[in-house]
Amino acid sequence: MNKEQPLPIVVLVSGGGSNLQTIIDRIEDKTLNAKICAVICNKPDAYGIERAKKAAIPTEIIDHNQYDNRESFDAELTRCIEKYQPELIVLAGFMRILTDDFVNHFYGKMINIHPSLLPKYRGLHTHKRALEAGDSEHGLSIHYVSAELDGGPVILQKKVPILKNDTESSLAERVLVQEHIAYPQVIQWFSQGRLQLIDNQVIFDKSAVH
Ligand code: GAR
Repeated sequence: MNKEQPLPIVVLVSGGGSNLQTIIDRIEDKTLNAKICAVICNKPDAYGIERAKKAAIPTEIIDHNQYDNRESFDAELTRCIEKYQPELIVLAGFMRILTDDFVNHFYGKMINIHPSLLPKYRGLHTHKRALEAGDSEHGLSIHYVSAELDGGPVILQKKVPILKNDTESSLAERVLVQEHIAYPQVIQWFSQGRLQLIDNQVIFDKSAVH
């Protein structure tokens, strides 16, 4: 694609959408050259939907409770995503386990942000688990989505020190601050054509990452 054109993306959310908001804000202040074609959400009452509406971004709600199984939900999600022809699918707090078929269909074009230093603490309650383990540092990972839960090739990690008096919420808050810096940055790298996935290896500026 012509690199001066905004990168067409769709953003998938399930909750508050603070990461969605930073993507909207960075597009508005022109530090991120992307266009959000749609925000897709699996929860009708998620605040992320309100954020999208305020920014005049098309929204789609696909309530997973209306589907008999993961396959039929993912089929509808695929149909919905493809309607917008995005070059990148951005999972921003999208809390659904996806079928292998869905993930494989979009492999290399779908990224996720996860609040831990993967491969540590896949799944839920990552901040609590890091505190309980007595870790000295925690953080976030941005990765390509693969069929393995929170297991795809890592693009970027940011470390956050764990402080003596940290609680689950104080730690989550500090990780979130870093998430809000890192996610728009990675999407901008896609927009600039600097990231590729070749043989399951992340390539940044033509060099292998890690
Ligand atoms: C973020 O901390 C994100 O890393 C996490 O959900 C939160 C969503 O916050 N994602 C996952 O745990 C995915 N496994 P937000 O809705 O305010 O962006």
